[in-house]
Amino acid sequence: DSRPRVFSGIQPTADSFHLGNYLGALRNWVPLQDTHDCLYCVVDLHAITAGHDPKVLRQRTRVAAAQLLAIGIDPERSILFVQSHVPAHAELAWVLSCITGFGEASRMTQFKDKTVKQGSDRASVGLFTYPVLMAADILLYRAHEVPVGEDQRQHLELSRDLAQRFNRDYGKTFVVPEPYILRDTAKIVDLQDPTSKMSKSASTPNGIIELLDEPARSAKKIRSAVTDTGREIVYDPEQKPGVSNLLTIHSALTGTPVADLEKQYEGRGYGDLKKELGQVVADFTAPIRERTQAYLDDPAELDKVLAVGAEKARQIADQTLRTVYDRVGF
Ligand code: ADP
Ligand code: NA
Repeated sequence: DSRPRVFSGIQPTADSFHLGNYLGALRNWVPLQDTHDCLYCVVDLHAITAGHDPKVLRQRTRVAAAQLLAIGIDPERSILFVQSHVPAHAELAWVLSCITGFGEASRMTQFKDKTVKQGSDRASVGLFTYPVLMAADILLYRAHEVPVGEDQRQHLELSRDLAQRFNRDYGKTFVVPEPYILRDTAKIVDLQDPTSKMSKSASTPNGIIELLDEPARSAKKIRSAVTDTGREIVYDPEQKPGVSNLLTIHSALTGTPVADLEKQYEGRGYGDLKKELGQVVADFTAPIRERTQAYLDDPAELDKVLAVGAEKARQIADQTLRTVYDRVGF
């Protein structure tokens, strides 16, 4: 296959993906399958960097994989797998950690942000070296392109540096990955606090719309979304972040340009927008919820899909790792 190869991962750290994950990242994974050789990974090794419950993690990993299948990741065309099923990720991460400077790793802003929140005594060394594991994820598959949002840019830069350093010191082994700039991404904000992004770590569950929410539940969350005291339905993220967010979600899910929505809602109230958006979201999430549930109801089938994915991933990863070990002197 001569198509460029893409690697992307998502953590199984919530009971469901939310609309921010979907519109900011996951929905772009589907069309990439037409143009690229895709590897999509549920990165469970990354998910234990900040404390976890084993039973919950196991379940979330399955639900994450089922949701990826449900949104349209096709295991016949893409390699869909779970990170811990391929031991080479952890093995390569060790080698890469030995060519990563301590100061270099210390400059990663995401770690700094998280430790400011958690306190450095509670942060694990795994959280600190997380970007090195991410580099291993990408470099193992010699991925040419990595779809990244703003939040992962610095980590991809480290992956590139490590690939170049290893190639220089031990001979050309890795492809230096390029960022793949996603075209149709939207930043979604919290329904209850439109000044922060929609996130699983939100203070109230009513601020986030989960892909697996029951339609009545997401409709209710949208009805109680925080807007403003004005009446006009116009897109103005600075002055009207709540209303703008509803328009963004509407536009992203229906494909109607925001300007057309503004016209459509001229002279109408927030209540109308919320009611109709509730229906739009329900129409969109209901089939995803059903398909996810169908995979969860057939554990043998899901296991089979993930076993096939892991086998395909291992074939590529083991070959890279053998070369790396040989060059390092093992
Ligand atoms: P969370 O913020 O809920 O912890 P993650 O950090 O696990 O979500 O995000 C996984 C992916 O989803 C990332 O690529 C991130 O950029 C994207 N993403 C997360 N939240 C949003 C959002 N509110 N709007 C757009 N994209 C988002
Ligand atoms: Na996050």
